[in-house]
Parts: sequence; C-alpha cells; structure tokens
Amino acid sequence: MLILAFESSCDETAAAVVRAEGERLTVLSNIVATQIETHRLYGGVVPEIASRAHIEQISPITYEALAEAGVTLSEIDLVAVTAQPGLIGALLVAVNFAKSLAAANGIPLVGVDHIKGHIAASYLLEDAPKPPFIALALSGGHTSIYRVRSYTDYEIIGETRDDAIGESFDKIGRLIDIPYPAGRGFDALSLEGFVRATGDEGNYYHKYKKCDAYKNGNMPLPSPALADGSLDFSFSGLKTAAINLLHRYEQTGEELDRALFAARYTYEACEAVAKKAQAALAENEGYDLVVAGGVAANSHLRRRLAEVAAQSHRKLYIPSLALCGDNAAMIGAQGYYEFCAGKRDDSTLNASALDGIR
Ligand code: KG4
Ligand code: ZN
Repeated sequence: MLILAFESSCDETAAAVVRAEGERLTVLSNIVATQIETHRLYGGVVPEIASRAHIEQISPITYEALAEAGVTLSEIDLVAVTAQPGLIGALLVAVNFAKSLAAANGIPLVGVDHIKGHIAASYLLEDAPKPPFIALALSGGHTSIYRVRSYTDYEIIGETRDDAIGESFDKIGRLIDIPYPAGRGFDALSLEGFVRATGDEGNYYHKYKKCDAYKNGNMPLPSPALADGSLDFSFSGLKTAAINLLHRYEQTGEELDRALFAARYTYEACEAVAKKAQAALAENEGYDLVVAGGVAANSHLRRRLAEVAAQSHRKLYIPSLALCGDNAAMIGAQGYYEFCAGKRDDSTLNASALDGIR
C-alpha cells in the first residue's frame, strides 16, 4: 500500500510517500520545506506568515515527493494529513489540499493527530516498536507521557501543566542569543558547558552533579518534575527562575558563562524527563519506551534515556534525527495504522488547534 502524507501544523510544509507492507513501513520520499529562516527574523513563528508560506510550498513539494518516490498519483492508495493540534491557519492549508486531492482522485483520506504522528516516526525504524509501550512526546508544544495501548488507542498519563520543554529551550535560548529555534544550539552549547565543568569529554553527564560548577550555587534552578506520585511537569517555574537568574547577572554586571548556564538548564530539563520516564516504566511492567518529537533530538537526553531504559530492562526506540522534527513520513505511518483500524475521513474533515489525545 502506498500512502501520500502531508504536514503543515507549524513552520514546516511537508509531503512524503510511505510504502506499507504489513507492519513493515518504508519511507520512499520525505520532503520538508522549512520556514525557519523566515521566522528567525521575528524570534518565533508568525502564524499568518506560516500559513502563506505553506500555501506557496504545498503543491511543489507534493510533485517533488511523488517524483522522488518514483510513483504517480494514480498509484497512491491513501492520503493522510495532520488535522490537529497546531496553528489553525497553518493546519488548514494541508487539510484542504489533502481533501481536494483525495476527492478529485477517489483516494481514501485519513486525518492524523500530530502527536500520534511523532510517536509513529518510531514505526519507520528498521526494528520498530509494537504497542503496547510508553511514549514520551517532547516537542515545541508538548511534554507528555502516554500509555500507547494499540496503534490508535492512547492514554495520557503525564503532561506539562504549563510550558512545553521545546518552547522553554527556545525562549531561554533566545535570551542567551541562540538563534531560533534554539533547541539545537542549546544542545551544542550545553555540551561545551558540561565538558568544561567536568573536564571530561565522554562521561561528563554523571560527573556534572559533583563538579564545582553545579555545587557552588551560582546558578540555582529548580527541577521541572512535579513531586513523586505524579508524572506531570511544570516548565514555567524553571523558565522563570532562569529568567530571574539572567536578570541578576545583567543587574550586577557579572559576566554570564553562557555554556555553563546552558548546561545547568539542560541538566534540570533532562533529569526531570528521565525521572518521570523511569517512574512511568516502573508503573507499567514490561512496556518498552518510545521517545518522539523535536526535543528527542537532544543528544544529552538521548543518552540519559538510553540509561533509564537499560536500568529498567526495557528497550528504547528513538527515531533518527531527521524523523524527530516535523515531517510527513511520520504522518503517513500513523495514517496507515488509522486506516487499518477502519478510520475514514471525507470532505467534512476539519482542522483543530486543540490537542486530540485526552
Ligand atoms: O516536534 P517539533 O519539530 O515541532 C513541534 O511539533 O513543536 O519540535 C520543535 C522543538 C523546538 O522547540 C526545537 O527547539 C526543539 O524541538 N529541538 C531541540 C533540539 N532540536 C530541536 N531541543 C533540544 N535539543 C535539540 N537538539
Ligand atoms: Zn511536531
């Protein structure tokens, strides 16, 4: 079965062709037209500009995706499209495009939840996970933990009560002059900080808590993990404490060591996710761990979660870096399983800004 998939929920316009044979999914093409350079001028995504850019890009990247996959529209068996959550004007572009294309060519259509799509990126791994498993969705808008009971049945068991982890990296990163979106730059700067603080290029992470840079109390930052007993997070406290700390440096004129600061912030964020992942695995005996979303690209977090999984005697599945960020192949993967479960949409399909998994 060949699936043509679309994604336009935020600042990437994406089209992909995925081949599905039973539970073996293969990406034949995965085109992403990013708007990052445009939004960088404003330090964040401007919804109106995003929608207009999606309209310009969606048709050319569809031709590109089909050409790169070496297939024609007449060979496509299913059209899948992100229908929620995201920026409403942005979502509507791919939803309307996909609806028209499916209707005009008599192809079945399924609307897909973006977060389920991120998690479905792991189905594109050669050694793909099979539900049930625990999934962490870590992105610009989400910091959530799910019990994934089947390919289409999700239960939320933990989430952020306020800001998302990716958004917090972006906002704090901006304040220390890391270009938007700051996640990747934050990751690299933190590495510099960890290595400098510990003097160890390899095993820096665990040495960090014992080193002077951590212990001297210069940069007090709270954990975004809520107290034991809950799998929830609160990133607003960490973010506010970081902003106050940056103000203090500004006011006293003391020079901020950006790399040490970034390492400190990253450490708290990663430890919180590791702690809640560990607790979720402990509560769900035998479940493996899937990590998804743009922040799953974070090198420190990837290593830390590999340890958590190993200590809990579970397997860890994280998509390749190219499939962690927004793309349409992941939407194709989830669309396929929605279709297999009997889901069908038609020209009444609408987009929604709201989270669909409750
Ligand atoms: O999933 P995604 O591409 O879009 C949303 O659905 O939000 O996630 C984007 C987020 C941004 O906040 C970006 O800064 C963050 O993922 N990100 C990272 C890294 N690469 C991207 N955060 C931390 N470390 C990274 N290496
Ligand atoms: Zn996303």
